[in-house]
Amino acid sequence: MSEKINVAVLGLGNMGKTHVKAAVASPWVDKIIGFDPDKDLSAGCAEEFKINTVDNLDEILNDSTVALVYIATPNDTHVDLTERVMRAGKAVMCEKPMGENLADAKRMVDVQKETGGFLQLGFELRYSKMYAKAKEWIDNGMIGDVVNTHCRYYASEFHGKDTWRSNSPGSLIGEKLSHYLDCQRWFVNDEVENVYSIHAPKVVEYFNHPDNHQINLRFFNGAISTLVFNMFLPESDGSDPLLDVMEKQSDDGHYLQHHIFGTKGGIETDVFRRRLRRWEFTDGVKGLESKIAEIITFPKEEDLLWFHNVHDQNIRISELVAKGLPPENTITDSYETMKVCFAAEVSENENRIVKLNEL
Ligand SMILES: NC(=O)c1ccc[n+]([C@@H]2O[C@H](COP(=O)([O-])OP(=O)(O)OC[C@H]3O[C@@H](n4cnc5c(N)ncnc54)[C@H](O)[C@@H]3O)[C@@H](O)[C@H]2O)c1
Repeated sequence: MSEKINVAVLGLGNMGKTHVKAAVASPWVDKIIGFDPDKDLSAGCAEEFKINTVDNLDEILNDSTVALVYIATPNDTHVDLTERVMRAGKAVMCEKPMGENLADAKRMVDVQKETGGFLQLGFELRYSKMYAKAKEWIDNGMIGDVVNTHCRYYASEFHGKDTWRSNSPGSLIGEKLSHYLDCQRWFVNDEVENVYSIHAPKVVEYFNHPDNHQINLRFFNGAISTLVFNMFLPESDGSDPLLDVMEKQSDDGHYLQHHIFGTKGGIETDVFRRRLRRWEFTDGVKGLESKIAEIITFPKEEDLLWFHNVHDQNIRISELVAKGLPPENTITDSYETMKVCFAAEVSENENRIVKLNEL
């Protein structure tokens, strides 16, 4: 095993705590240093996780023992922090999105190119056991060529009044839907040629941006994808839970499903039913036949491993940095997903199909 590394976590809010927990669990991490301008939060985190915290970022930037920095701060700080940390010679894992506009995202790519450093974005759904299994089925040819993918996501309002999310000038597309658009690019395994996106009037009136989207993608290979997102309808307590009671969560208005249609079969991933299924199509005597060939379910205790697997993503990133290896998901690939997000915003604002190569 390579030597252990020291890491830092910037931003100790909801996501930052998840990053601290993963760092505590990582066999590749020695010391953990946290920084958050909210002093009470910082002190609470130091106490809860037995980590050191500092009062300003420079203490981390000037600490030559810190090899890797996890950035879990509000979206409008991602670009500047990534640049400062990378120019201080440290590896970076930054939460999505890559800033709030395309210029921000491009700057992150440029900084990585200029410094030659390690930079991976937090698209942890690529480490989800559920989506990784779907991808494995696709790559093994079990559903033939992917021609169409649908994602249906109905969520509770979990951003809250007067928070940085509700007030953000950036839309929910980069902030939230980038994960699911990234999955669609990953499943189709081709680049998006153009995007057409529309949204309806808001239900959540205190948002500074739309709360619903219908995003259509057309890939160069002819495949298409649709993502339908509505932040209303579920019965919930406002925290977008994977509810305890299976019967209720599968029937109360929460949906997060992908349907992946191939030439030889199909796949369904269903977060709220904790289930994924695979269909096989065969050429029957009377016509094309279809049967469900495989069903996988997972227990509540494993929700986060099967869905938002930040835990394994972060442990893996600490291993890569400790071993001097490059990122598993390159920043240029993540940039392609961010381009799709920003193209969808342009499409909505200008009511037209947007070709990615015009951005
Ligand atoms: N990958 C995912 O699934 C996922 C899930 C949730 C959040 N996120 C991302 O994580 C980031 C943080 O989200 P959150 O829910 O934890 O928000 P949060 O508001 O709970 O926490 C953000 C923290 O950052 C601190 N902060 C602000 N500016 C800072 C700076 N310059 N340096 C250090 N700390 C600073 C704030 O004081 C706050 O405590 C966002 O970019 C969000 O998009 C990703």
